[in-house]
Amino acid sequence: MKKPARTNIYLTGFMAAGKSTVGHHLARELRWSFIDIDEQIERKFGLHISRIFEELGERTFREAESREVARCSKLSSRVIALGGGALLDPANLRSVRSSGILVHLKISAETVLARAAKQRGKRPLLKGLPKEEALARIRDLLKARQKSYRAANLSINTDELTPPQIVAALLRRKLLVQCCRDSANKIAFPYETHSRRARRP
Ligand code: S3P
Repeated sequence: MKKPARTNIYLTGFMAAGKSTVGHHLARELRWSFIDIDEQIERKFGLHISRIFEELGERTFREAESREVARCSKLSSRVIALGGGALLDPANLRSVRSSGILVHLKISAETVLARAAKQRGKRPLLKGLPKEEALARIRDLLKARQKSYRAANLSINTDELTPPQIVAALLRRKLLVQCCRDSANKIAFPYETHSRRARRP
């Protein structure tokens, strides 16, 4: 029997890798809906992520995150930005892998630190840490998460790229194009015609 098509595009990667910004751009290009899991959780609790961590604890956050991932895995033709730690739970990884393709936006520890410094207070896992300690923490977390990020179907280095450049690069990747073609929402994928036209003399 033919396997069901996996027609969501999930974005994973460490915090500050640009998952939300890239997700918005990519969804707009495909004319698909975009879902930001962190944003959904914030809406449900009526609190920012950092307050959820402070007031309700990381465990409550992780449980809510798993519920959101499970809900999204029942949808199709969505671009979905996962939180940087969402795939630590193997059940989340299974839900994602069975319902879409997983794209890893790779980022170096130094770039995370530079970006996180500009968004003070938004990153509960780095909160209150001086620069050197924050860098060490980022490196530890990146190491611990490497395995889950390696489970991605596609991976792209983002340190030197802007979000539109990342989206353009992703739209040239065969697997992503195939995912869009398999989608029930085929009409929303305009790239096939563009690339054919481009090849004509
Ligand atoms: C987390 C990353 C955050 C958010 C929460 C936990 C993590 O999302 O889900 O603060 O464990 O790395 P971003 O990756 O979008 O910053």
